Amino acid sequence: MKIAIGNDHAAVAMKNEIKAYLEELGHEVINFGTDTTDSVNYPEYGEAVGRAVAAQEVDCGVLICGTGVGISLAANKVKGVRAAVCSEPVTARLVKEHNNANIIAFGARIVGIEVAKEIVRAYLEAQFQGGRHQTRVDLIHEIENKG
Ligand code: RB5
Repeated sequence: MKIAIGNDHAAVAMKNEIKAYLEELGHEVINFGTDTTDSVNYPEYGEAVGRAVAAQEVDCGVLICGTGVGISLAANKVKGVRAAVCSEPVTARLVKEHNNANIIAFGARIVGIEVAKEIVRAYLEAQFQGGRHQTRVDLIHEIENKG
């Protein structure tokens, strides 16, 4: 898969480890994140990955900041994005199966690297279940069209 990754200054080390892990799994990773620990603004990175995902330039995205929350909030402002914050792999599997999340997010200050790897693996191995879940995903995007 082609995967966009984005992060702020709180998650540079974790981004590097997750990028390497994804590449080990055979994925192509495009880095939209910052590569230094100089303070930056996470919305810019969430938006960049959100736009790449929404434009279908990549298959999905991974976002990491301190908590995973700010950067995912920003990504979710891009039409077509469904970014989900996860702190463990069960949620990571379910956000794909039920919500068809197209971005997974987590916090470098919240989860350790081994849990982070389990989160991305669970998400990537899961399949969207469609059916009633598709109806609900469609309803989420109808909200965007209401303005
Ligand atoms: C940066 O200090 C921090 O606020 C950011 O990484 C993130 O946790 C925001 O949601």
